[in-house]
Amino acid sequence: MCGIVGYIGKKQASPILLGGLERLEYRGYDSAGLAVKKDGAETVIVKAKGRLRALAEKTDDGASVKGCCGIGHTRWATHGEPSETNAHPHCSDDKRVIAVHNGIIENYKPLKEKLEKAGYSFYSQTDSEVAVKLLDYYLKKEESPLCALARFMLRVRGSYALAVLFSDEPDKIFVARKDSPLLLGRGENESYLASDIPAILPYTHSVYYMENLEMATLSKSGITFYNIDKEEIHKTPVKITFSAQLAEKNGFEHFMMKEIHEQPQAVEDTLNESIKNGVICLPESLSTARIQALKTVYIVGCGSAYHVGVCAQYVIEDLAKISVRVELASEFRYRAPSLDTNALVIVISQSGETADSLGALRLAKQAGAKTLAIVNVVGSSIAREADEVMYTRAGPEIAVATTKAYSTQLIVCYLLAIAFGKAREQIEKTDCERLLAELFELPKKMHRILEDKERLQWFASKYANANALFVIGRGLDYACALEGGLKTKEISYIHAEAYPAGELKHGTISLIEDGTLVVGVLTQERLFEKTVSNMAEVKSRGAELFAVTTYGNYETESLADFTFYIPRTDEHFAVSLAVIPLQLTAYYISVARGVDVDKPRNLAKSVTVE
Ligand code: M6R
Repeated sequence: MCGIVGYIGKKQASPILLGGLERLEYRGYDSAGLAVKKDGAETVIVKAKGRLRALAEKTDDGASVKGCCGIGHTRWATHGEPSETNAHPHCSDDKRVIAVHNGIIENYKPLKEKLEKAGYSFYSQTDSEVAVKLLDYYLKKEESPLCALARFMLRVRGSYALAVLFSDEPDKIFVARKDSPLLLGRGENESYLASDIPAILPYTHSVYYMENLEMATLSKSGITFYNIDKEEIHKTPVKITFSAQLAEKNGFEHFMMKEIHEQPQAVEDTLNESIKNGVICLPESLSTARIQALKTVYIVGCGSAYHVGVCAQYVIEDLAKISVRVELASEFRYRAPSLDTNALVIVISQSGETADSLGALRLAKQAGAKTLAIVNVVGSSIAREADEVMYTRAGPEIAVATTKAYSTQLIVCYLLAIAFGKAREQIEKTDCERLLAELFELPKKMHRILEDKERLQWFASKYANANALFVIGRGLDYACALEGGLKTKEISYIHAEAYPAGELKHGTISLIEDGTLVVGVLTQERLFEKTVSNMAEVKSRGAELFAVTTYGNYETESLADFTFYIPRTDEHFAVSLAVIPLQLTAYYISVARGVDVDKPRNLAKSVTVE
């Protein structure tokens, strides 16, 4: 959601800004803009509604906007429609202050009223223009841009990653951060800023993460960090280990397809991250005594991360016999859950920046519960604020629809289930070894599914014009259906609903008519016949059936119009395999319908607003 970049150095800024914004496109946006400063000349601001291509065209790929210092922005509309006027950068009337902002200024209304009384006019509907004019207001009262910025931080409520050009200090870019991601990087005689690593990865592998309520100034010669009291602080750079190539398509037509294919490797890397010499390495504070004392495990997340939680609930309850509650972060954070020190709250998030998940984490900490984050982005807010972190090793995920992050989150949850089961003496050492060995077999089995993908392409092309579809299953198969349903709707725009197979006849079956596509997931032996019966019920009411099941379950052939087989694995882990044909089907339907697979409408990769 909104991406910001900035550059100051010896090179031309515009092409660097455009390139950086392009690598942040995955975050989701509907307009873009940049401001570039040239020595002795007025700063030029260019904005365009729609795709970044429009901004590139307006600026001749950056060639027509000269200068070696600039800031850029992609906007995902919150306050005010997508338009050129609402696009960033915003500026004060005399261009003394020009800024880009990612986040939300919650108290922008009273601030706007105050500024209007002080004679300010507003041209856009955005909270960000209020932020810029507030900075200008303080600048007129304070001695320096840094003082104005610090005062601004004390006055506003909400979240911001802010990059500001003050004409009073033409050789610097000022930045400030609270609750919206911001990182800085250094090259030779140059400094960079960005919302996320891919934007600056071609130039530097060493980054500084800005913490909440910190400021910094960037110049050609270096970066200086400050706390909110304007005292200089020291920060240590973090080495980024993945290459810029990981954030490229590498011959695939879309990032989503590339990321689907990266799942076997990501799963293997995540296993190797947490298993050393055959032993699952849990964070230090999760000692055997602590695990034994656990009363309830809460798993909290949004979207697909929540679906991972639903899956984990079945596996942890079965293997470790602990009661697990899975909750949507946006709901959990506004309930009053009875948490105490014997509760463990697990927050799952790919980006580590999802506003509701971060809110849920903070609520859990305030209530005295121990918190564990399962996060993909190193150094993200959730990773830093949780008591403990277990990282997934998916690498950068660019497509809005998550695939490899989902798969690696599942792996970490399986590991927790096995480790908890062992610590609570619910499973034997030999079971533990068998389960771990089975996990290491998953990448190979995922490859086998990927080799069969053309069959799904053929099937998807038949259903590309469907109006609605249902994905059904029981138990873990229902958990998998949830993810299959979300994947389909977010990238194909077909209304797709996941349903517990046994629940259909309590109302929803009335929606089944001739030709409705129903996808059944059947990987759980104990529930197989029951789901088959539910599929027969919808078939007799006109539905067409697609079955995803394990090799050997050939009984579905006579019932389903199309069956896709996945290799056998321990049933606790079957979702990891069954989800792949659902991801692929959603992908192929999306392509057949001409949807922008990697950047579906209205969505953002990192949802940093509530
Ligand atoms: O970064 P997070 O894992 O916290 O994101 C959570 C959801 O926004 C995310 O999983 C979303 O549902 C995906 N677009 C699903 O593909």
